[in-house]
Parts: sequence; C-alpha cells; structure tokens
Amino acid sequence: MDQHLISTVNRLQDAFATLGPTTNPIDLPQITVVGSQSSGKSSVLENIVGRDFLPRGTGIVTRRPLVLQLINRPKGKANGTAGESSEGDEWGEFLHLPGQKIYDFGKIREEIVRETESKTGKNAGISANPINLRIFSPNVLTLTLVDLPGLTKVPVGDQPKDIERQIREMVLKYITKPNAIILAVTAANTDLANSDGLKLAREVDPEGTRTIGVLTKVDLMDQGTDVVDILAGRVIPLRLGYVPVINRGQRDIEQGKAISSALEHERDFFENHPSYRAKAQYCGTPFLARKLNMILMHHIKATLPDIKQRIQSTLSKYQLELAQLGDNTLGTPSNIVLNVITEFCNEYRTILDGNSQELSSLEL
Ligand code: GDP
Ligand code: NA
Ligand code: MG
Repeated sequence: MDQHLISTVNRLQDAFATLGPTTNPIDLPQITVVGSQSSGKSSVLENIVGRDFLPRGTGIVTRRPLVLQLINRPKGKANGTAGESSEGDEWGEFLHLPGQKIYDFGKIREEIVRETESKTGKNAGISANPINLRIFSPNVLTLTLVDLPGLTKVPVGDQPKDIERQIREMVLKYITKPNAIILAVTAANTDLANSDGLKLAREVDPEGTRTIGVLTKVDLMDQGTDVVDILAGRVIPLRLGYVPVINRGQRDIEQGKAISSALEHERDFFENHPSYRAKAQYCGTPFLARKLNMILMHHIKATLPDIKQRIQSTLSKYQLELAQLGDNTLGTPSNIVLNVITEFCNEYRTILDGNSQELSSLEL
C-alpha cells in the first residue's frame, strides 16, 4: 500500500511534467540532493540505486536537474525465477523517450549525457530544464530523488562568470518549496560549519524540519576523529538527523569496484569501527534509503490535504475552461489535460481512501 501511494504520486509528477514546467500546479513531495561539487552527491544516489548509471568526471558533470523516480518491482515477474536477480529485472525509462525500456545502465548514463548536452551544449553551461528518469528494480525502495548541479564558486572552462549565482538560484528553486525534502550532503573530512549544502538548506528550512544530513567520506577522516558529535546533534542539530555513509573513492571507481562490494565494505567499516559499531544499524546507505522512504511517506501524509485541494482546484479550472470552449474541443490540448487530471484524481482518491488508516498509524 505504501509503495502504491508513492508510485501514484510518481505518476502524478509525470502527468504534470508533460504539461510543461510553467503549468504544473502541484508541488509534489520529493527528495532533493544538495551540496558542494564533489561532496559525493552522485555517489550517494548511485549507492541508493545500487547501479552505476550517473555521468561522472571532474568538473561540473551534473548540469541539469535529474528527477529520478525509483520504483520497487518484485523480482522474478518477467522470467518466473523468484529469488534470483536477472538482466531483465532492472531497467530505466526516460520521460522524453516514452515506451523505451533501457536495460543497459551504461546506455542510461549515455542518454543522460546526450540529453544534458542537447540543452546546454558541451561548454559546461547549465539548464534548469529537468531530465526525468524512472528506474524499475527489485533492489530499490520506491522513492523520488532529484540530483542537482553541485554548488560551485569558481567558473571553469567556458562557464559564465555568474555560475555560482545561477546554480544557487536553480537549487533554491527546488528546495524552497515547502514540500521538498532536502538531502544535504557534506564530506565528513570538511568543516560542517562551512557546508554549502547545509547553509543553503538552512536558508529555506531554518528549523531543520525537512533537511536530512548525509555525511560522506567518513573513511577519509583523520585517525582518531569521528562524526559522533554531529550524529548526536551537538554541532548543527537537524530534527531528521544525519546518516554517515561511505562511497567508492576515486581509485575504487578507476579500478571498476562494484557497488555491491562497496556496500559490503561500508557495512564492515561501521560494524568494526570503535566509534560507530554500537550504532552501526543507523549508519550506511541501506539505512539512509529506508529512512528516506519513511520520511517521504510521512511527508506525503502531512501534505495530502494540500495536494488534494490543489488537484481539485486545477480540475475545476480546466472543467470551467472546457465548458466555456463548448463542444467542438474534443482532442484539443485542454481536453487531453482534463482527461489526464481526471484520471489521476480518481486514482488518487481511491488510493487515498485505502491508505488513510495505514497512513495515520505511520511513525517515523
Ligand atoms: P558530486 O560532485 O557531489 O556528485 O560527487 P561525486 O559523487 O562525483 O564524488 C566526488 C569524488 O569523491 C569522487 O572521486 C568519488 O569517488 C569521491 N567520493 C565520494 N564519496 C566518497 C566516500 O565516501 N569516500 C571516499 N573515499 N571517496 C568518496
Ligand atoms: Na563530481
Ligand atoms: Mg554529481
């Protein structure tokens, strides 16, 4: 049921995305990743998905927002072999390539690069126009994540002089919405007080009610230092707390280290480290993914009345518009839009009713 609610929210996002960015009347809850360039944002996302598929490299690689919908799909459906993962279990679909299932995650990465360049050129420019990608897999929790360009201060290559301002404004556009859940990524081997991600998050969420801290590169901290004070809320407290993670280092990536062995290494690290082993179940990527899923459910629950209200007023607006246009409008954009919204509203209400009891008992 929980998964069903979130996948309906995902489909609503798609339906409104087809109307274009300016006509989208509904801000649906989503988890937005912010942080300095090279803080480890792409690595965190890849570890949550469990596959290599994001473009990487030095410099500014993420140059358009990526709206990434993870959809859990139980394994064995396609080939009947329950309990065993196979090639056909996991695939990606881009909104701009309807009906195309891409099973090769290397091809997904190529398509992200191609789409990025088609809107921004190859000269390190940026665009606020998002790429929408869904990943279906038995190995993910149903979540929507948004990857954004990293916060940077110094223009490189042909970047405009005001690149810092451009990226800042783009990030703010996503995280200012009260229903955005902010995943503020900070490298543990840098000073938390200087964290660009946390600073920006605090501008739009001063109480820290929708910001979750992720501490990367815990393995690169000096011997004898740890993030225990941060985790305990003694440095910059966040109501939703912090999760420490360990991603692959540059050398791991160059040597082609698999994400699965990186996750094993991460677990071993926290379970055997004197500072973390007592609380190892609250550390690492799998815990982060579960926590994000719970936060997303909680957030959807809290914003349901508002979302419902906005869907209803949008519906009324289009119905009125349609009535004024008269009968000869079948097949016009307004009519298509009306049908899409009606369909999703009906489905949304059904699922809403079915979930209200379960949702009211949901605890973080
Ligand atoms: P982004 O720019 O924020 O998306 O950061 P990336 O995910 O591209 O990571 C930047 C660099 O930091 C890469 O070379 C990663 O291999 C490295 N890196 C990220 N997280 C960790 C970590 O937890 N430990 C180590 N050792 N390296 C990391
Ligand atoms: Na990077
Ligand atoms: Mg990145």
